Amino acid sequence: MSKIIVMMGAPGVGKGTQARLLAEKCGYPQISTGDILREMAHADTPLGREIKARQAAGQLVSDEVLASVILTRASQPDCKNGYVLDGFPRTLAQIRMLEKLAEQQDKEIRLIKVVVPCESLMKRLTGRRNCTRCGEIYNIYLRPPKREGVCDLDGAPLAQRSDDKAETVGARLEAYERSTAPVIDYYRQSGRLIEVNGERPVDEVFRDIYAKVEGC
Ligand code: AP5
Ligand code: MG
Repeated sequence: MSKIIVMMGAPGVGKGTQARLLAEKCGYPQISTGDILREMAHADTPLGREIKARQAAGQLVSDEVLASVILTRASQPDCKNGYVLDGFPRTLAQIRMLEKLAEQQDKEIRLIKVVVPCESLMKRLTGRRNCTRCGEIYNIYLRPPKREGVCDLDGAPLAQRSDDKAETVGARLEAYERSTAPVIDYYRQSGRLIEVNGERPVDEVFRDIYAKVEGC
């Protein structure tokens, strides 16, 4: 049965970093709701402005918007053999959406929670830089590019996400504790959660995740 691999965990634990590697290894698309919403936030429409304001404040975007984003993206032909979800689900309503979708698509869900101590997250988030072309993820303290400000893979400039400023990071961590941590607990209690220590080198974390999802 094909899989939906779900990357969960607090802001900055490495969901995006690991989702990119898994997607590449498995030949699955990576569906990052944060990235899709950031793209939608560029539109000068009421919806675009609403998403932009919520992301900038570190607050969750509504479940209605997420339903439309996920249903549209996950029904594309490239998702047929499986996909990696990065940043979804984050609320109880989103869990229900996912369970229903998996049933309709006849896919099994593998839930990964990446765990990193709280005190490491600020450095990870404020130090993060992303390639403006390919999205590759760096960190000026922990995973610097070979040449400052430039992507190793394609030479494009790196940029900081607007919600990675120290003043917004606190609100994001709070939103996680309030809305998403309880949802993840729900999965832990049902015995379906695979927890992985994310405070190790990136490839070590990746090998652990890949082994625990039992391949693609
Ligand atoms: P989103 O983009 O999903 O942000 P997030 O959950 O806050 O997570 P991040 O992307 O910040 O962290 P990550 O875990 O992907 O870490 P990364 O791999 O980059 O969401 C943003 C916003 O969109 C939300 O606030 C909300 O407004 C909205 N949104 C999105 N989804 C939503 C949903 N489902 N419902 C409602 N609203 C939604 O790594 C972080 C840093 O650490 C990088 O610098 C990286 O280089 C470094 N790093 C990674 N792994 C390691 C390692 N092993 N060792 C050392 N450094 C590492
Ligand atoms: Mg991310």
